[in-house]
Amino acid sequence: MTILAIETSCDDTCISILKAKSAKFKILSNIISSQVKLHAKYGGVYPFLAKREHQRNLPTVLKKALKEAGSIDLIGVTVGPGLDPCLWQGVNFAKDLAAKLNLKIIPVNHIEAHILANWLSPIRSNPQTLFPAICLVVSGGHTQLILMKDIGKYKLIGETRDDAAGECFDKVAKILGLGYPGGPAIDKEAEKNRETRERRHPKFKIKLPRPMIYQKNYDFSFSGLKTAVLYDFKNRPQKIRKSKQYIQEMSAEVQQAIIDVLIKKTIKAAKKFKAKSIILGGGVVASQELRKQFKFEIPLLVPPRKLCTDNAAMVAVTAYFRW
Ligand code: KG4
Ligand code: ZN
Repeated sequence: MTILAIETSCDDTCISILKAKSAKFKILSNIISSQVKLHAKYGGVYPFLAKREHQRNLPTVLKKALKEAGSIDLIGVTVGPGLDPCLWQGVNFAKDLAAKLNLKIIPVNHIEAHILANWLSPIRSNPQTLFPAICLVVSGGHTQLILMKDIGKYKLIGETRDDAAGECFDKVAKILGLGYPGGPAIDKEAEKNRETRERRHPKFKIKLPRPMIYQKNYDFSFSGLKTAVLYDFKNRPQKIRKSKQYIQEMSAEVQQAIIDVLIKKTIKAAKKFKAKSIILGGGVVASQELRKQFKFEIPLLVPPRKLCTDNAAMVAVTAYFRW
């Protein structure tokens, strides 16, 4: 069967067409129209502007996506969580299309889609041997640890009490003047720092907290981390704040602080719940450094980098399983 899926929960207008045959998938098209440039000047996503852009982009994105496909059998659409005006734009577009083509709509949860993005690539082990799994979903809006007993069976075991990890990256990048979205920008600066670490000794010896890392629960908190960056930044002379080395060292340290907490708590949950696998998803998982450092004795599922950030292929695969 062929599934068309729509994703407009934040600032990317995405439509994908996925061919599915007994839980094997082929992505026929995966179109993403990014609004990054538009929102960059606000340093974050401005919901009503995003909604208007979705409205403007959807017909063009649909046309591009359909180029690769024949007939469609089913429509999937993200219904939440996300920015309300943006979600509605996608849902109404899906409704119109479903009426025109006389097709059924499957509502999709964005978080589940980030998890099931892993099923878009062939899964090497027998899927049943993966469960129970511990899923870590880290995006701009969410940081959650989820116990997954099967596809469709989830239990939230911990989440952030304030900012999401991606949001922390975005806010720190704004403080450092690195622009939006912050995750990839911090990733790049941190990488430069690593490349030169052997040659240059760290000058600023920045040490940030690892919030809640030793607490007995599976929750997170990242807003204090952002505040710690802000204090350090404000206490530096103007010249230092703008220096390449300070920005790179701070980027590496904030990235490491986030990675330390994410890995430590996920592994703790995996041990406690006797997980047979760890499943990662969400925009922050596109971080090269997080991917490199995440090692544990059970199988680890990580989507290709392109399928970590928002896309509609993950929505299509989720619609398939829901159907
Ligand atoms: O899943 P996603 O595309 O959208 C939401 O559902 O929010 O995640 C976006 C988040 C942003 O906060 C962005 O800064 C972060 O993912 N991100 C990264 C990287 N690429 C995107 N964070 C760290 N390293 C990256 N390479
Ligand atoms: Zn997302």
